[in-house]
Amino acid sequence: MQIRATNTTVLDWTGDALAIGILEDAIELTGELAQLDEKLAGTINELIEEEEFKGKSGTTAVTRVGSKSPVRKVILVGLGKAEELKLDSWRTAAAAIARVAKKEKSKTLGISLPINREEPVHIPQAITEGILLALHQDNRFKSEPEDKGAKLESVDLLGLSGQDAEISRGEQIASGVILARELVNAPANEVTPVTMAETAEQIASEYGLAIEILESEDCEKFEQGMGAFLGVAKASDLPPKFIHLTYKPEGTPKRKIAIVGKSLTFDSGGLNLKVSGSGIETMKMDMGGGAATLGAAKAIAQLKPDVEVHFICAATENMISGKAMHPGDILKAANGKTIEVNNTDAEGRLTLADALVFAEKLEVDAIVDLATLTGACIIALGDDIAGLWSTDDSLASQIKAAAELAGEKFWQMPMEEKYFEGMKSQIADMKNTGPRAGGSITAALFLKQFIKDTPWVHLDIAGPVWADKEKGVNNSGATGFPVRTLVNWVMSAA
Ligand code: BES
Ligand code: MN
Ligand code: ZN
Repeated sequence: MQIRATNTTVLDWTGDALAIGILEDAIELTGELAQLDEKLAGTINELIEEEEFKGKSGTTAVTRVGSKSPVRKVILVGLGKAEELKLDSWRTAAAAIARVAKKEKSKTLGISLPINREEPVHIPQAITEGILLALHQDNRFKSEPEDKGAKLESVDLLGLSGQDAEISRGEQIASGVILARELVNAPANEVTPVTMAETAEQIASEYGLAIEILESEDCEKFEQGMGAFLGVAKASDLPPKFIHLTYKPEGTPKRKIAIVGKSLTFDSGGLNLKVSGSGIETMKMDMGGGAATLGAAKAIAQLKPDVEVHFICAATENMISGKAMHPGDILKAANGKTIEVNNTDAEGRLTLADALVFAEKLEVDAIVDLATLTGACIIALGDDIAGLWSTDDSLASQIKAAAELAGEKFWQMPMEEKYFEGMKSQIADMKNTGPRAGGSITAALFLKQFIKDTPWVHLDIAGPVWADKEKGVNNSGATGFPVRTLVNWVMSAA
């Protein structure tokens, strides 16, 4: 499918479906739209009246115009109030249009939106993302695709000629989001630590990134040994893979950063086995952080910012077997700190502990980790909002600004040092879990023990990695959260 920017007007465009964006406070057709309505014998005004279309954000209306008309169907999409428009409004409007066009089996689509071309923000990029992400449907595991029939072949963005670079950027970012979605959607018998390493290798060879994969023996040799990561990996029949991908710009980098993603290709809970009803069957999504890390790598490798970026995934499964770590075992992380494992189901933080130590040794200016870390974060913030913890206000603000433009929601949570008292161990430096209350905060405090002084942000994405229903640019299933935020943040640092 091709997305093109063109200077064709709504009056001259011909094709299967013409989509028109309408602001809530500008429902009267004026100028070119009034002329178009006249040309189409009043169809648009009739549609507005019959459907009582008010231009409210997220609403759409569609009508057939007639086989002799140069435009076969007209789609209206509400944009809400002009003063409430933000970048994500264009992204979600484009997603809504793409969904209607798909349902109507249109092959060619024209989109006309009331965009003020003076605005410096990336509207055509966001529109491109919205179209591609709404149309993406994961049919890989169906013997026959569900969406048979006519496919959208081309989309013309009317009045946006000269914006081709924006469209390419949107396509590159969407390719990263889609990779993350596909990795998360695939079950644990398809995406394993081994295949995750292979995916990273493919990205490296396709886009010329450096890659190193630390095998178990290499992990043992790193600093004081990655005992925490390897402790989790022990029960799996599959070898753990510590993935380190590096993007280096051609010139001197303006900044060096590390992105670290929790990569549990399956989380059974270990010997503290997840009980039935705990959602154990959804735990293929527990590599959502790593998936978004690789998705961001794919996008960033194409966008080529002047920033050095390290992508780190300590990939393994949390399983049960005679070799499994026991509840109560004491593990030593690569920085020498000892951990009493009072719950084997709090495994993500163990794998991240060693990954964070590794990231800090790279002498980067900032570290961001992202993890489907706690059910407690979902209880606190619901399915759509991720938790954000930080030791550095300026880094936290950068991520929040990037997220706002990406249309991805985060809420900053407290790094309440006092709560770390709940993690005190009588025998080791710390336990891996504290009391039930404040569970996502104690998880963040645990991770903090493995960072010395590099500015750091922790993102608990347990809720938003997965969507039960289609909404905005997301379809049901994996969302690819928060690839767009990560990419925007890296680009803003360039
Ligand atoms: N992967 C889970 C967290 C999770 C839960 C992600 C639900 C997505 C949906 C994590 O490893 C885990 O099991 N956390 C425990 C921690 C507890 C043992 C302190 C939890 O949240 O129950
Ligand atoms: Mn767990
Ligand atoms: Zn987990």
